[in-house]
Amino acid sequence: MNFELNEQQLSIQKMARDFTEKKVAPKVLERDETREYDVNLYKDLCDMGFIGLPYAKEYGGQGLGYMEYALAVEEISKVDPSLGVSFSVATSLYGGSLYFSEATDEQLKRFMPPVLRDGHLGSFGLTEPTAGSDVSGMLTFAQRDGDEYIINGSKCFITNGPLSDYFCVYALTDHELGPKSIATFVVERNTPGFTIGARHNTMGIRSAMVSELHFTDVRVPVANMITPPGKGFVAAMKTLDGGRIGIASQALGIAEGAFEIARKYLMQREQFKKPLYKNQHLAFRMVDLANEIEMAKYMVYKAACDKDEHKPFSASAAKAKLIAAETAMHVTTDAVQMLGGNGFMKEYHVERLMRDAKITQIYEGTSEIQKIVLSKGLFV
Ligand code: CAA
Repeated sequence: MNFELNEQQLSIQKMARDFTEKKVAPKVLERDETREYDVNLYKDLCDMGFIGLPYAKEYGGQGLGYMEYALAVEEISKVDPSLGVSFSVATSLYGGSLYFSEATDEQLKRFMPPVLRDGHLGSFGLTEPTAGSDVSGMLTFAQRDGDEYIINGSKCFITNGPLSDYFCVYALTDHELGPKSIATFVVERNTPGFTIGARHNTMGIRSAMVSELHFTDVRVPVANMITPPGKGFVAAMKTLDGGRIGIASQALGIAEGAFEIARKYLMQREQFKKPLYKNQHLAFRMVDLANEIEMAKYMVYKAACDKDEHKPFSASAAKAKLIAAETAMHVTTDAVQMLGGNGFMKEYHVERLMRDAKITQIYEGTSEIQKIVLSKGLFV
């Protein structure tokens, strides 16, 4: 394993950094205030090849890996974690549900390029009001009827939901077998009976679009089934392993973004006739935070490398997500405190990053769920 970035990775990192500075940063505060999602930024990510980074070219991807994807999500999330999560969900939850499933070549060619390459948003429909941490509590049901399945039920907390054209939806197919009968279907936006529910009003990632989904007798052809009955639970878990690398990268970016704002502020702001950083307790705290960030970075890059090297990566993804999310929360909370009254003001960005950091400890498996995953591997 080598964390030295190669030329191509450095070039992707620079491209993401330049794009973020020029196109994402200018209106990031406004988007947080108005809760407006700028779909053109998503289209730009597609045009630059970012959404498809880890997937094969024939499916609209770039034929690269999770390391390149992690670097791009990290850079964007330093400034706009709302765009970071939208990117992460399209790539690793929508794309991952297809690519790491039993989808046929024809299904991959039909359902991946529109989202990875052509600017259509994609979502991952797993969570339900009764099935958050406990995925097996799912109630959405798909009943076979000839060459079709009829889906009934509801999903919640679905990132990109209000704007997506394609949804990977997980549903039970047998009441008795319950979670052992889960299958996965691609549902297209205009399918009769499928409606997008209320947009959730969130504490952070305010400009990301997150909503409910409702299914009333939604008829989906068997040709849209990408994971057969019984294999959906494990497919969801495998997809989430990849998704957790995306969220860990988002959390890492948030921590780095807030750290840099605090570092510059401590150098420029004078109180008691000296710059703030000359107070040893602040300088020491910044050293602690810098070390936490570096540790998180190694964990995130290691998880991405494990995946790219086809090693088991479920545990390294859980560790990366746990550590990066906790780091994002520590760093942003301390950054607000170090900026004092200004830290509480929106124009200094750290209060927004603190609100955005909170969800990284919750979605795609809470910090406690990551500990469940990790403890299962500890006592074998
Ligand atoms: N890879 C492959 N197989 C896996 C696996 C993995 N990562 N994790 C579990 N499995 C397999 C197990 O081996 C087991 O197989 P067998 O039945 O053959 O033995 C089967 O799946 C069941 O596993 P468990 O008994 O461990 O399942 P569980 O019911 O105890 O749940 C859990 C485990 C880790 C708690 C899991 O439910 C989980 O990850 N929960 C969190 C869900 C989550 O992250 N939701 C977020 C949704 S997306 C989102 O956040 C919104 C967004 O848009 C950003």
